Amino acid sequence: MSFVTLHEVGPRDGLQNEPGVIAVADRVALIDALAAAGLRQIEVGSFVSPKWVPQMARTDEVMAALKPGPCYAVLVPNMRGWDGFAAAARQGDYKVAVFVAATEGFSRANLNCSVADSLERAAPVIAAAKTAGVAVRGYVSCVTDCPYEGRVAPGQVADVAARLMALGVGEVSLGETIGKGDPERVAKMLDAVADVVPVTALAGHFHDTGGQALAHIQVALEKGLRNFDAAAGGLGGCPYAPGAPGNVATEAVVAMLHGMGFETGVDIAKLARAAEMANALRGGRDVGQG
Ligand code: HMG
Ligand code: MG
Repeated sequence: MSFVTLHEVGPRDGLQNEPGVIAVADRVALIDALAAAGLRQIEVGSFVSPKWVPQMARTDEVMAALKPGPCYAVLVPNMRGWDGFAAAARQGDYKVAVFVAATEGFSRANLNCSVADSLERAAPVIAAAKTAGVAVRGYVSCVTDCPYEGRVAPGQVADVAARLMALGVGEVSLGETIGKGDPERVAKMLDAVADVVPVTALAGHFHDTGGQALAHIQVALEKGLRNFDAAAGGLGGCPYAPGAPGNVATEAVVAMLHGMGFETGVDIAKLARAAEMANALRGGRDVGQG
C-alpha cells in the first residue's frame, strides 16, 4: 500500500487569513490536536513582518510551547526571518519554508519585491538552513492563476521551481493560491514542472476556492505526487468572504485518500476533533485548551 505524506498548514495558512489575531495558547492547542491526530508535518507560523501579517506575530512563543515529535515548519522570507527562527528553535525537528511566486504581480503584492529579488533573499536562508541541518521547503505561488496577471504559463512555474531546487531546497510545494485552476491546466503545469524537478520532491498545495482541490489532488496522484498540503477544517478562507472555502480540508483529503487505498498515518476521529477546534477559531473565537 502506498503512503501519502500530509503537510498540515492550518495553523499558518489558515490562521494567517483570519480577521482576528488568535491567542498563542489557542494556536498551540490546535497544533497539539493536529499532532495527536497523527499529522507529522505541521506548519506552525511565519517569521514575516508583523506589520504585513499580524496574525503570525509571536510565532516564537508558539514554537516555545510545542511538544517534540512532529516536524514543525515555519515561513521564512529573508535573513531577518531566519534569525527569528534560529533564536526560537529548540531541540527538535524543524523545516523552514521560503516562498516565491511564479508571477511578478503576486511577488510584489506578497513580498514587496520581484521574483528574482525574492530568490536572492531566499538564497542565504537556504544556505543557513543547510549549515544548521534544517530541512528547507520552497513554495511557488500562483501555479495556474494569479490575481494580478490571470492565467500562468506552465513554463513560468517550472522555471521558478527549478531555480528553487538549484538553490538547494529539498522540496517544492506548488501553490494553487486562488483556487481558479482546473484539473486539465493543473495536469499541464505538473508535466512542465516534473520535466525539471523529480516528482518525489514535489508537493501539491491546492486552495479550494473553486471547489476543485480534491480533483487537483487526484490529478497529482496520477502524476506520481505523494505529498499534499491541507488545512484542518478547510481554514484559510478570505476574511472578506465569510464561509468561503480556503485551503483544502485535511479531513476531506484524508477521507479521499483512505477511500482510494492510500495510507496517511492520520486518525480520522482525532482529526475531526482538531477540525472542530479549527472551525471554532474562525472569526477569532476562543476555544480554550480543550
Ligand atoms: P518590506 O517592507 O519590503 O521589507 O517587506 P523591508 O526589508 O523593507 O522591512 C520593512 C520592515 O519589516 C522593517 O521594519 C523590517 O525590520 C521588518 P521597520 O523598520 O519598518 O519597523 N522586517 C521583518 N520583521 C519581521 N520578520 C521579518 C522581517 N523582514 C523585514 N522576516 C517582507 C518584506 C518579506 C518582510 C514583507 O513583504 C512580508 O513580511 N511579507 C509577508 C508575506 C506573507 O507572509 N504572506 C503570506 C504567506 S505566503 C502564502 O500564504 C502562500 C502559500 O500559502 C502558498 C500559496 O498558497 O500559494 C505559501
Ligand atoms: Mg496557501
